[in-house]
Amino acid sequence: LPELRPWLSRAAPGVGGSGSHKEGSAAEKARRGRCSPRVWLVLGSLVLVFLTSLFFSVSLRSGVGFNYLEPPGWEVSRRVKLVPSYAGSHKQNPRDSQQQKTCACSRCVGDPGVSDWFDENYDPDISPVWTRDNIELPSDVYYWWVMLQPQFKPHSIQQVLLRLFQVIPGRSPYGSWDPGRCLRCAVVGNSGNLRGAGYGATIDGHNYIMRINLAPTVGYEEDAGSQTTHHFMYPESAKNLAANVSFVLVPFKTLDLVWITSALSTGQIRFTYAPVKQFLRVDKDKVQIFNPAFFKYIHDHWTRHHGRYPSTGMLVLFFALHVCDEVNVFGFGADGRGNWHHYWEQNRYAGEFRKTGVHDADFEAQIIQRLAEAGKITVYPGK
Ligand SMILES: *[C@@H]1O[C@H](CO)[C@@H](O)[C@H](O)[C@H]1NC(C)=O
Repeated sequence: LPELRPWLSRAAPGVGGSGSHKEGSAAEKARRGRCSPRVWLVLGSLVLVFLTSLFFSVSLRSGVGFNYLEPPGWEVSRRVKLVPSYAGSHKQNPRDSQQQKTCACSRCVGDPGVSDWFDENYDPDISPVWTRDNIELPSDVYYWWVMLQPQFKPHSIQQVLLRLFQVIPGRSPYGSWDPGRCLRCAVVGNSGNLRGAGYGATIDGHNYIMRINLAPTVGYEEDAGSQTTHHFMYPESAKNLAANVSFVLVPFKTLDLVWITSALSTGQIRFTYAPVKQFLRVDKDKVQIFNPAFFKYIHDHWTRHHGRYPSTGMLVLFFALHVCDEVNVFGFGADGRGNWHHYWEQNRYAGEFRKTGVHDADFEAQIIQRLAEAGKITVYPGK
């Protein structure tokens, strides 16, 4: 309102300045007539700006999402597509359905009929890896994904991916269920509860060993193991990997795809929102890109819009649940004293991120507990 004063007070000196009262009031009326549309315009703009910012802050922070961008009936069509794949197999083989196993382990992640909650939400057909076959994102996924880290200069995803797939294979290395296979996976989180738990040898005994971000093993072999087959990282957290390790990039923006292409070839990108490695020493043939559609599937079906997006721990856990037959979980959650920190850190109180509200740690802990109760994962609690 103080800014509006000059507008209003400009009319006032006109009253005193003119000789006749009649003339003055007429001029005043005329000026008011000219002024008020401008004032309304300014007020209207302010209200519009306010409402727009309110809308964006609500839809971005609370994870409500851009529901209006989704075609009507999206929820329904997903469900209809999901149910027949189970109902169908039961109908075709009513007697075999109990014995029919999807793998050769004692318990298989893919076996239906163990948990209704799991079967209703689990979509065995969605690919965790972004490949040549699923370059094009569904529009609801696209809008959700580009709003995670909005950029001033969006790139054409299709062009960027096609360039990336000239450097990396762009194919999924994972097969479908095989009753003769038992693929055992260790998902290793970075929690301080690994410290002194002595799980090293157990972790190293798995077919796939998946780690996240920094996750050092040298010096922590006794507790965290020494082997790694999959390492999940962001551009801002990326490090060089041994030649026999798959780098799984978790992209949050198109620039991340431009960066990985650059870091494996010409090295022209050195900065995203933070400095990034100009060149990355990893085996190009083993680089995989986390599928944004899979990212949103976890947000919709599993973390159910608690937090703005799922934590990396959740992303890796569900990645494992879609490529492995048996999933064992290490280094998740707080330590025995309720502290959140990394196993390589001395500071037990370093886990303040838990209170930021980007991820919902409590809800994610409930999902892990439920998966364990359903027999889909085994959690090694640590110390
Ligand atoms: C990966 O290579 C390292 C040597 O660079 C070796 O010690 C390790 O056993 C290999 N891991 C696997 C899973 O083959």
